[in-house]
Amino acid sequence: MKKQLNVLYVAAEIAPFGATGGLADVGESLPEVLGEKGVNISRVMPKYKGLEDRYKLEKVCSFIVETSGKANVANIYKYKEDVVTTYFIGNDDYFERDNYYGYNDDDIRFGFFSKAVLEMLIVLSIKPGIIHLNDWQSALISLFLKKEYSHIDFYKEIKVMYTIHNLQYQGLFNKETLDKLCLSTKYFNMESLEYYGKISYMKAGIIFSDIITTVSETYAKEIQTPLYGYGLDGILKKNKNKICGITNGIHYDKFNPQTDSYIKFNYHIDNAIHGKNENKKYLQKHIGLPIKNAPLFGMVSRLSEQKGIDLCLKAISQLIKEDIQFVILGTGDSHYEEQLLQLSKKYPDKLKVMIEFNQEMARLIYASSDFFLMPSLFEPCGLSQIYSMRFGTVPIVRKTGGLVDTVKPFDIGSKTGTGLIFQHYNGDALKESIKKGIGLYKNTDIWKSIVRNCMSQRFSWDESAKMYIDKYNELIN
Ligand code: GLC
Repeated sequence: MKKQLNVLYVAAEIAPFGATGGLADVGESLPEVLGEKGVNISRVMPKYKGLEDRYKLEKVCSFIVETSGKANVANIYKYKEDVVTTYFIGNDDYFERDNYYGYNDDDIRFGFFSKAVLEMLIVLSIKPGIIHLNDWQSALISLFLKKEYSHIDFYKEIKVMYTIHNLQYQGLFNKETLDKLCLSTKYFNMESLEYYGKISYMKAGIIFSDIITTVSETYAKEIQTPLYGYGLDGILKKNKNKICGITNGIHYDKFNPQTDSYIKFNYHIDNAIHGKNENKKYLQKHIGLPIKNAPLFGMVSRLSEQKGIDLCLKAISQLIKEDIQFVILGTGDSHYEEQLLQLSKKYPDKLKVMIEFNQEMARLIYASSDFFLMPSLFEPCGLSQIYSMRFGTVPIVRKTGGLVDTVKPFDIGSKTGTGLIFQHYNGDALKESIKKGIGLYKNTDIWKSIVRNCMSQRFSWDESAKMYIDKYNELIN
């Protein structure tokens, strides 16, 4: 008989409670699907500011956690839903702030969080078979569990899965952090947390977890190379036997052009061209672009180097004479925000830029655009290209990471494939793909098939959840 799987899923962001990126989307859907498939799963994240105003949280207990040479209170709250219960770790000093990250004491904040998660288990007598960690913010749990708490019977059998959503953000801090977290300097060596004179929380996750997953198969291979390894490729390669790629899915009911209440005209695969055109007219009017039937290129993205904004700036400037339009929504690095805004001021009839995080506008862009731009420098999985295909919007992507695993190049002869893919990280390569896209758009017959192909794709959580379950079973058996 198979053992019951008891899993604790730990992440710094879980939607809808707290979200700045894809990490939160995964934390929202994957545990739910795992729960529906019979895994006994709970989640835990920090209790950020204001959460108690939006959700009815039940306070369950408080206890003391030692960090930075002082006693800190951990207040534990709980939010129970049908399938998954979510726990929140609160501390007035560490988490009642305006942002989630970017503070001088992030090392202590997430070190405290990591310790508190483990202490909470004993206080509440929750004994998972597996703790599933995500990204650097929770990575230290693996070190505490395997090294610092391993002499306590309660923790002995617990296994750790560590999922890397983005290797670029590593949680790098000074050596002194060890002391602040009551950790010995014996961890300051190459085989442990040391990373070019600093300590890396990401590295702790890589070394001390029993299995490492990342969010696409291609990214699992890429991170073992210097180009994508951010200095950790060596250690990842050494641990390659415990690495596996499981591609993310999306929630097909929550992202559905047929029922989406944010978009103006609902549509489905059989009337997509018409529906999308109606949405496009509405969007053009709403945001002040000329109302016309020209190909519309959308982008919903964090405005950071990773997302290929440099390429967009270059390609858009070069294509501005064409009869096309661009719409870009997102927030991020201020220099990208400024450059994009400047370009849109220069060409207001061609480019609309909105610097905000706006779910409703995002859906409108997915529904109205003909193409979706995602020329990422690297992309662990990427969810937006999957959302865009769901809305019949053809992705133009760079050949990297999860983009390779989810977007298949369109072939005119066989009319198969879902998007346009280019290799070289430069503005001209993106420009050429955009031009090719314009060509496809002009051929009604071809255009219908590519939109249909996109909308027929299924990257649901179902398959991926099964793979996680297999890995969980491997871990405990
Ligand atoms: C990060 C990655 C993105 C991935 C997401 C969820 O945001 O940059 O590629 O889709 O995590 O795993």
